[in-house]
Amino acid sequence: MVSEYLKLVEAEIKRQPFGSQPKSLYEPIRYIMALGGKRLRPLLTLLAYSLYKPDVGKIVKYAAAIEAFHNFTLLHDDIMDKAPLRRGKATVHEKWNVNTAILSGDVMLVRVYDMFLDMDRDLLPQALTLFNQCAAEVCEGQQWDMEFESKGNVAEAQYLEMIRLKTAVLLGFSLELGALLAKAPPRERIALREFGTHIGIGFQLKDDLLDVYADKKKFGKQVGGDIIANKKTYLLIKAKEKARGKDKRELAHWLQAKKFNTQKKVNGVTAIYNRLGIAGLTEKKIAEYFDKGFQKLESLPDTPHKQNLIQFTQDLISRQS
Ligand code: IPE
Ligand code: IPE
Ligand code: MG
Ligand code: MG
Ligand code: MG
Repeated sequence: MVSEYLKLVEAEIKRQPFGSQPKSLYEPIRYIMALGGKRLRPLLTLLAYSLYKPDVGKIVKYAAAIEAFHNFTLLHDDIMDKAPLRRGKATVHEKWNVNTAILSGDVMLVRVYDMFLDMDRDLLPQALTLFNQCAAEVCEGQQWDMEFESKGNVAEAQYLEMIRLKTAVLLGFSLELGALLAKAPPRERIALREFGTHIGIGFQLKDDLLDVYADKKKFGKQVGGDIIANKKTYLLIKAKEKARGKDKRELAHWLQAKKFNTQKKVNGVTAIYNRLGIAGLTEKKIAEYFDKGFQKLESLPDTPHKQNLIQFTQDLISRQS
C-alpha cells in the first residue's frame, strides 16, 4: 500500500510545473524535487487520510505541496549548513550558486500556497492557519539551530525544543493535514499531530546519529557535517556531559579549534563518541520518542490502516538514510 502511495506522490510531483522562465530559477526546483528522498511527509499525509477515507488520490496534490515545502527548507538549510551533498548529488547552492538557491527556494514556497489554493473552501482557512504556524516554527527552530552552533552550553531540553521546531512540527502537520482533509474527529486529528511531533523528534535524533555513523553512499549527505559545524546535537550534548580527563580536553580542543583538518576533527570527535558509548544512548532516546508517539495512537480505532501507519513508522527507526 505504501508503495502505491509513493507512486501517486511521485507522479504528482512530476505533474507540477513550478514555472519556466528564467530557466535558472526553475531548473533547481525540478532538480531537487527529482532527486527523490524518502517522501516521508506526503506519505504520512496519505496514511493519515487513509485511516478515514480510501480516495487518497483526491488529496495527493496537498501531500505533494508539503514535500515541496520540505524541499524548499532543504535548499535554504543546505546554504546555512554549508552542505555540499544532498541525496547523493551536489546541493543547489553548489551546483548553481547561493543566490539561486535562495530565490528558487522562495518561489517554491509561493508554489506551495498555489498548490493548497484549490482545496475545499470549508477546509482551506484551517489548513493554511495550521500550515503557517508550522512554517513559522520551522524558521524558529532553524534559527535556534544556527545560534546554538556558537553557544557553549546548550541544555538537552533546549536541543529537544529546537528539533521539535525545526523538524518535528512538520511531521505533525503532515499527519494533521491528512486527518483534517478526511474530516476526522478533532480529538483523533490532534492525536495524530502529537504522534507526528513525537516521532519527528525521534526522526531528527536519528538524523543526528546518521550524520556521524551513516554509510555515506546510503546517506547521500556529507558524513560528519554536524561535527564540522559544532552543531549542538544530542550526541555532542551527551559527550560534553560524560567526557572526563583526556576525552574532555580533546573535545574542548575540537570545539574551539578555528583552523583544522575537517577529516581529523570528524575522526577525533567520533572516536570520543565511541569511547563514551554515545550511539547507544542516542538509540535509547530515539526509541523513547517513537514509543511516546505510538502511545498517542492508542486512542485511535485499531484497523489494518492503523497497522500500516505503525509499520511504516517503525521502519524509520532502523533507516540507514
Ligand atoms: C532531511 O529530511 C531533513 C531533516 C529534517 C532531517 P529527510 O531525511 O526526510 O530527507 P529526504 O527528503 O528523505 O531526503
Ligand atoms: C534540517 O536539519 C531541518 C530542516 C531542513 C528544517 P538538518 O540540517 O540536520 O537536516 P539535514 O541533515 O541537512 O538533512
Ligand atoms: Mg540544518
Ligand atoms: Mg542540514
Ligand atoms: Mg542532519
